[in-house]
Amino acid sequence: MSAARRLRRGATRAMVGLALAAPLLGALVVWLNVRGEMPLPPETPLTSPPSADVARGAYLVKAGNCIGCHTTPGGAALAGGRPIETPFGAVFAPNLTPDDDTGLGRWTASEFWRAMHHGRSRNGRLLYPAFPYTSFTQMTRQDVDAVYAYLRSVPAVKQPPRAHALRFPYSTQPALAVWRALYFRAGHFSTVEEQSDAWNRGKYLVEGLGHCAACHASRNALGAARLHAGLGGGLMTDGGWYAPALSDPAEAGVQQWPRAQVVQLLKTGVSPTASVSGPMADVVHDSTQHLDEADLDAMAQYLISLPPVAASTPTEAAPATPEAMLRGAEVYAQACAACHGKQGEGVAGIYPALAGNRAVTWPSPHNLVQMVRHGGFAPTTEGNPRPFGMPPFAQTLSNDDVAAVVTYLRQSWGHRASAVSALQVSRIR
Ligand code: HEC
Ligand code: HEC
Ligand code: HEC
Repeated sequence: MSAARRLRRGATRAMVGLALAAPLLGALVVWLNVRGEMPLPPETPLTSPPSADVARGAYLVKAGNCIGCHTTPGGAALAGGRPIETPFGAVFAPNLTPDDDTGLGRWTASEFWRAMHHGRSRNGRLLYPAFPYTSFTQMTRQDVDAVYAYLRSVPAVKQPPRAHALRFPYSTQPALAVWRALYFRAGHFSTVEEQSDAWNRGKYLVEGLGHCAACHASRNALGAARLHAGLGGGLMTDGGWYAPALSDPAEAGVQQWPRAQVVQLLKTGVSPTASVSGPMADVVHDSTQHLDEADLDAMAQYLISLPPVAASTPTEAAPATPEAMLRGAEVYAQACAACHGKQGEGVAGIYPALAGNRAVTWPSPHNLVQMVRHGGFAPTTEGNPRPFGMPPFAQTLSNDDVAAVVTYLRQSWGHRASAVSALQVSRIR
């Protein structure tokens, strides 16, 4: 047989193989997307849910922070319309109020369960994981039913859902089906026998309902939480903030903290060594501050027990140029020292110390740049009703100045984190 003929025959075989494999692969993707789903039982939407379920559901809705995503600023609670930014475009959170035409009015309890557990809408459409059902899938049926009961008790608001603004091919159902086949599997919460009830409760709240992984997990290029990477820290899907690793004591890990201080941080937004800002301030404000002491204590127990894993290899960064450090010191003295102290020592309980503050030396400088540009407040909570604020500097400092002062913070007072350039600053949204 001639070489050309062999080649041709080889190519034909490959084509036939592909033609045979494509439908098989397609069928596999479809099967992976529906495995474990039960046919929906004939049911009617619940009209007058028992008040005990409604009360429990209201609490669970806080723990799951449904309002945070499903409400536009200033809009009616849970009526949807807020965009969740992803690297592939915006996904709009829909209306969860019991309006028949634009909300969940016609939904039965089983349809609602299917959305929360399997990530599938009432009409069968696959849902985008910007809705953190990848975490909610661990919720118990009892809890999902209580959430459903609560959602049926809130005032119905007529507000049509907004169409998603995703780029092709991410906007298509087949692309999403492939993503789900690779990265999503409906799952149940698994209790760890050797651990206490409180620890298991904490695990359920952190991994399931509280969906901490939605921000704190590291992600691959397709936006999927990396397998086995747990709460290893990652850039949030809108690219603006870095959610530090809960598994690394040098980042957001609390393995070495007293339990009471972890509870304090989740309850009030501040602790003796840390204060939350940006998206985490919203999480505390909208969600964790409303949880009862027992649940916060359970979460703290679980977070403290996470096996410590370094999120990045500690390296001593190259020193910044003397010019950058000089300019940084100047900006710091003029704009920052009045509150944070000449030596970055801060004022206890009022202005956080920057010297020795782990948030200053995280590998990603995103949060520092956000703070300097936009300022910020720790959340207003019952335990910290009048948080002190930091003014925004976007109007007064150039990208060069922001880079210089952030570099100065990262390389003063014994810190050895990487310098930050004006180009890096300009790229952070
Ligand atoms: C991080 C933001 C976020 C949080 C938190 C969140 N959702 Fe959503 N949710 C979304 C987005 C975005 C969608 C739209 C997904 C889509 O259309 O593919 C959605 C869709 C849904 C749907 C499907 C509705 C439909 O019309 O198909 C339900 C049900 C739902 N969410 C319930 C909840 C509940 C209950 C909670 C709280 C326990 C919650 N969500 C928390 C962002 C969120
Ligand atoms: C919407 C995204 C988001 C979610 C959801 C989220 N976090 Fe965070 N978290 C962040 C960001 C961003 C930071 C860094 C800013 C800061 O330090 O406040 C952070 C910081 C933290 C810190 C470190 C605070 C410090 O300064 O040392 C802890 C602890 C923490 N989060 C715990 C949690 C827990 C527990 C959950 C789940 C109940 C959770 N987070 C859910 C975004 C999120
Ligand atoms: C008027 C007082 C004030 C000034 C001036 C000020 N800050 Fe702040 N800063 C604060 C307060 C209050 C917080 C805590 C806010 C929060 O938790 O969101 C804070 C928080 C921070 C944080 C986050 C610390 C953490 O633990 O997460 C950084 C970084 C920071 N400031 C840097 C700066 C820099 C750099 C400047 C100068 C360009 C500056 N600040 C100027 C009051 C100030």
